[in-house]
Amino acid sequence: MNFSLEPLSDKLFKKFSSLVFAQSGIYLNSEKKELLNARLGKRLRKIGFDSFEAYYNYVVNDKSGEEIVQLLDCVSTNFTSFFREKAHFDYLTATVLPEFLKKSAAKRRLSFWSAACSSGEEPYTLAIVINDFFINNPGWNCSVLATDLSTRVLNTARNGIYDMNRVASLPPEVLKQNFKKGKGKGEGYVKVKVHIRNMITFQRFNLMHRFAWPEPFQVIFCRNVMIYFNKQTQEELVDKFYSCLEPGGYLFIGHSESLSGIKHSFVRAAPAVYRK
Ligand SMILES: C[S@@+](CC[C@H](N)C(=O)[O-])C[C@H]1O[C@@H](n2cnc3c(N)ncnc32)[C@H](O)[C@@H]1O
Repeated sequence: MNFSLEPLSDKLFKKFSSLVFAQSGIYLNSEKKELLNARLGKRLRKIGFDSFEAYYNYVVNDKSGEEIVQLLDCVSTNFTSFFREKAHFDYLTATVLPEFLKKSAAKRRLSFWSAACSSGEEPYTLAIVINDFFINNPGWNCSVLATDLSTRVLNTARNGIYDMNRVASLPPEVLKQNFKKGKGKGEGYVKVKVHIRNMITFQRFNLMHRFAWPEPFQVIFCRNVMIYFNKQTQEELVDKFYSCLEPGGYLFIGHSESLSGIKHSFVRAAPAVYRK
């Protein structure tokens, strides 16, 4: 069925953007109106709503909480790639991992968190780099927690199946060691190998919520998400990251992001890398 949809009004844009902000911390300024109109329009057509107002009322009254998840899926920007901002992974191998190899030698356990993991490329890259580093140091238990707000991208992440194009720039030996090429119906795709997949736990988690992780992390990656938050939200989030890192632990943020301009207790260790 085809519905003709009135464009999103300024008034309703404000209501949706307040709702999105309250639920996710994502701040949509007025320049995002057309984007929201297009993305939400698709969702409305899919589930058969013929007005943004009716949809808004449906979302706020939906006791199951399922439609707000779908709405947030529509607004989140999920761009990512394997080995994105490669300097971070080089720093991890050259500085951070050798440091923890000594420091955590007694317990031989390390916990990493990819705090806005999108479709999985970031946590899989982390696991590949960590696995590669510890290959000559057996007996270590390294785990990666990978979380995101969006259920849509988390499904892709959990499957661990990617179009060949997404791994085309990886060195052949990295590809061979960590991915299985698809055959038959899977032609043109690769699947992350089990030894890498098993290092990661995927979980839906909203960064606006209280952190109650059982143990401190040694390393947190929270890259290219804080740009969508306002200063106050960033400050509160960075404070929560500080609390759940072990002393000496590292926070990696996106290279286009910065902690200057907000109050925090970290010490800068390298470009877009901070230390507790
Ligand atoms: C641009 S991607 C960044 C992915 C990856 N970290 C990277 O740098 O390539 C931003 C991700 O942040 C997620 N996100 C936005 N707001 C969030 C929130 N409040 N809690 C958890 N994840 C959130 C989005 O769903 C999206 O997948």
